Amino acid sequence: MAEQRAWWKEAVIYQIYPRSFADSNGDGIGDLRGIEAHLPYLHTLGIDVIWLSPVYQSPNDDNGYDISDYRAIMTEFGTLEDFDRMLAKAHELGIRIVMDLVVNHTSDEHAWFIESKKSKDNPYRDYYIWKDGKDGKAPNNWQSCFSGSAWQLDETTGMYYLHCFSKKQPDLNWENPKVRDEVFDMMTWWCERGIDGFRMDVISMISKDPRFPDGEVTDGIYGDLNPYVCNGPHVHEYLQEMNRRVLSKFDIMTVGEAAGVTIDEAKKYANAQGSELNMVFHFEHVGMEACGRTIIGKWGYEHPQLSKFRAIMNKWQLELEGKAWGSLYLDNHDQPRAVSHFGCDDPKWRVRSAKMLATMLHMMKGTPYIYQGEEIGMTNMHFTSINDCRDLEEINAYRQYVTEHQMISAQEMLKCFDAVARDNARTPMQWDDGPQAGFTSGTPWIPVNPNYKEINTRAALADPDSVFYYYQKLIRLRHELPIIVYGTFEPLLEEDPNVYAYRRHLGGSILTVACNWTDQMQPCDVFAEGTGKELISNYDTHREGMLQPYEAIAVLQEG
Ligand code: GLC
Ligand code: CA
Repeated sequence: MAEQRAWWKEAVIYQIYPRSFADSNGDGIGDLRGIEAHLPYLHTLGIDVIWLSPVYQSPNDDNGYDISDYRAIMTEFGTLEDFDRMLAKAHELGIRIVMDLVVNHTSDEHAWFIESKKSKDNPYRDYYIWKDGKDGKAPNNWQSCFSGSAWQLDETTGMYYLHCFSKKQPDLNWENPKVRDEVFDMMTWWCERGIDGFRMDVISMISKDPRFPDGEVTDGIYGDLNPYVCNGPHVHEYLQEMNRRVLSKFDIMTVGEAAGVTIDEAKKYANAQGSELNMVFHFEHVGMEACGRTIIGKWGYEHPQLSKFRAIMNKWQLELEGKAWGSLYLDNHDQPRAVSHFGCDDPKWRVRSAKMLATMLHMMKGTPYIYQGEEIGMTNMHFTSINDCRDLEEINAYRQYVTEHQMISAQEMLKCFDAVARDNARTPMQWDDGPQAGFTSGTPWIPVNPNYKEINTRAALADPDSVFYYYQKLIRLRHELPIIVYGTFEPLLEEDPNVYAYRRHLGGSILTVACNWTDQMQPCDVFAEGTGKELISNYDTHREGMLQPYEAIAVLQEG
């Protein structure tokens, strides 16, 4: 085996968005006791690791991605005691827990920022990025990722602070060694508590271009900050320092959310020598690049096209080989639901399509991530009014493009939200067909998707043909067959407009996978007659040389 073995290469990870997972006390907000109560469910599914979206103290401007105290649990979610108990219960079941690490920015309510803005000579001043304005305006034209300027004027000192996200998320100044000391101490504190790793929020953005130049104006209003904040001059240096001082001291896994990452950069972040992180999330396949046109800014509503999606996935599979480990995901709390975006959520095809996408992803090389609800084929929500939206990204975009600049109609904006808004993934987990889908006994903070009567875990667990049991089998196969984890990747049918097919190789064994992305029969001849054994498929019977609508099949020939 060319590849070095590691538990995090063999693991399947399940992401929990705590606010929307399970509410134990009826306040409409998911919490740690809710998670604890459902650990046996996750154990049945068979996953190895939970990635917990942030559970730290936060004023919730961005649902916990704005942290005001890194060493306390968000009041609505519970206490540190609840956390320790949940962690211990997970460990008893053989499930590890990876925390979200949000250190590109803090909340503006964090004690460091409260100090920092007091005066220019406050000891915490340089914990953040402060600049003078230019001609009575912001220091440059950057647009924050959540619309509006990336700079906020603070009246006390008359200077601006940088916030790549909301103005309640001021960016930390990683050039200040004290900031790095604070972050590394805090990480060590959590590792010593027994956690099993970190998912690092927008970690590719911690080092900024010191020139702070204007960005290219693409939407007619603000400039693009990405080239000046992603993969900046010192990012690898900082991560190597983090690795030396913290990560290398514990048996943990790390995955970096790497906005703007290229393959060459990914090879550095996730290098096989292990000097930085274990793997990164890239965005190429989930962004508009895989789709047709955009409508405005990052927004659009077109579905991804197989040819574009496949070219991106294949490129990453091939180019990381032997150089860096990869991650595999189709959705998360920032993306629309996988089956709605990449597949077909029409009741006629939803189950087949969800299983097809799962086969395609889970047979690839890399560590797979499942986002809560994906394992039962949960779908996008339908937004009919801006009042249905909870996410500040949507609310701010609507204000900027529809209300203030009237660049697109409300209808057009809502169509984009229907397709790609983050709230699609944030509706409550659908546990059963009772009130509020069994998520809460109260009023949920965000409405339940009305399709919960059909799509819920109770129904899935009662149906041997459900999406749930299909995921369970995919996970089991990955645990049993080293070729799924370590085999090399070979693309097939690269020009086929309808079928995604590839092979994996290990020793003399060959695993062949073919997936029909359409609701029509498609010719497909990648399977040599009568050879090999079927590992998994979403159909009971097959047609020679054909794939049925949304059919997926994986066949192993043992060498
Ligand atoms: C990451 C998170 C997203 C958050 C943003 C700012 O992209 O996944 O949810 O809004 O960073 O922290
Ligand atoms: Ca609660």
